[in-house]
Amino acid sequence: MQPENRTVLAADPDWWRGAVIYQIYPRSYQDSNGDGIGDLVGIVERLPHIARLGADAIWISPFFKSPMKDFGYDVSDYCDVDPMFGTLADFDRVVDTAHRLGLRVMIDLVLSHTADVHPWFKESRKNRTNPKANWYVWAEPKGDGTPPNNWLSIFGGSAWSWDNRREQYYLHNFLTSQPDLNFHEPAVQEALFDVARFWLKRGVDGFRLDTINFYIADKYLRDNPPLPKALRNDSIAPSVNPYNHQLHLFDKNQAENLEFLRKFRAVLNPYGAAAVGEVGDAQRGLEIMAEYTSGGDKVQMCYPFEMLQPTRLTAALVADTFRRMEETAPDAWPCWAYSNHDVVRHVTRWGLTDAAARAYTTLMMTLRGSLCLYQGEELGLPEAEIAYEDLQDPYGLEFWPEFKGRDGCRTPMVWTTDNANGGFSDGTPWLPVKAPHLPLSVAAQEGDPASMLAHYRAALAFRRAHRTLRTGTMSEPRDFGDVVSFVRKGDEVIFCAVNLGAEPGEATLPTGIWERIATDLGSQTAQGGQVTLPPWGVCLARQV
Ligand code: NOJ
Ligand code: CA
Repeated sequence: MQPENRTVLAADPDWWRGAVIYQIYPRSYQDSNGDGIGDLVGIVERLPHIARLGADAIWISPFFKSPMKDFGYDVSDYCDVDPMFGTLADFDRVVDTAHRLGLRVMIDLVLSHTADVHPWFKESRKNRTNPKANWYVWAEPKGDGTPPNNWLSIFGGSAWSWDNRREQYYLHNFLTSQPDLNFHEPAVQEALFDVARFWLKRGVDGFRLDTINFYIADKYLRDNPPLPKALRNDSIAPSVNPYNHQLHLFDKNQAENLEFLRKFRAVLNPYGAAAVGEVGDAQRGLEIMAEYTSGGDKVQMCYPFEMLQPTRLTAALVADTFRRMEETAPDAWPCWAYSNHDVVRHVTRWGLTDAAARAYTTLMMTLRGSLCLYQGEELGLPEAEIAYEDLQDPYGLEFWPEFKGRDGCRTPMVWTTDNANGGFSDGTPWLPVKAPHLPLSVAAQEGDPASMLAHYRAALAFRRAHRTLRTGTMSEPRDFGDVVSFVRKGDEVIFCAVNLGAEPGEATLPTGIWERIATDLGSQTAQGGQVTLPPWGVCLARQV
């Protein structure tokens, strides 16, 4: 498709603020050619579902050329589509169709590392003198031949692998086949900006930036200090993973990253494009998010793991998170998600009933920040149980059975009920469609006003109808038992209280006269003073 024939959306450099971004995991959305793997043409077919849901944008997980050892998060050509997913022309159709439907398009740039079969790494590993010799993080062994320091890979074992040709170690924070690029090398940064420009010229509206805080490692390669057991948590890696035993002071989170992000922002600006960075850090996620998104000169949004944690998001945690943000960086801009392609689906992870899941969705739509929904959560899909024989995820294979990996949240989307593959594929799906998912298909819920899908549509419509929820301030975060409440201020003043518990709860309306809004989301009448919320109930009220 020629650039002049493409549909573009009205310029709005602030389009991302408060937006709802729907994440598509392309392998599992819709297969159009019967090979059992979702593809770009399949996405084109299903975009109307996302527009109907009321999302503002899509984020498509990687579809670039890749050996698929980490299912696309190991890129071997940043500027081409893997044949498994289609062609560049198919991608142009995705962009054009999305734009016609009013959806912005974000793609997933995996800049921190490449695949080991990327031509850059093939060249870099040849010897110590080639033009790309310094493009990856190479280091001498210690005197006894062991790795240069104690850094660990998230996917297990040392973060260093030996290379016979150079007789040096190279760094990888994930699989051994995902070598880390050396961001201290200016030519690497330039090459990555060119990648971003390639896609911006093709019409994308923004990027999700994989592992944004891993870009730069300490240039002195200092050891990470140990982290005492009492301070460990499993928010970014399962508790059985020794990665949690270190304080990650040196292998990531380096101050030099801020300068790289400023330059990256300068690449985005002429296109009015936006980026959301993934901040994986178990101790400092919220602070790093604030560092990277405040000041208006780095990325627009980041997502920390506060709401992706294994433990259920409580009223206290929500209030505390927003209190900390108010104190540290009021202009920071988070992007919240409960589910994605890396964590157990939240309905299962938090053990939510149908009523509870609805309350969490309503809560999300009232939060300050942008939001990511993960395909299938609008259907209330639980995690799929995957047998060991069906496992695909290398992370799951490494830590099975204590940690079962990420396949259970990556099974195909279910579109229809009358077909064993849920309408996903005419062939054999790469991961099985599990029986409990079939009755939750889009077709089964379509037209049922009591369905989870209808609830999601109503909750998104509510956010869309009140600009204050997207861009307004958030103040007075309070938790009282299981009830979390806060006030959003913008064109309107909106009081939000959500009972995240199975017992009735109480909230206190600030003084003034309030009228209830969003009654289809179950809100209660409110006239000042105390409000009683039924289990999983909400109170949404506008000051009059
Ligand atoms: C985070 C991605 O979300 C995950 O799927 C991937 O395995 C790692 N980064 C490595 O790229
Ligand atoms: Ca296919």
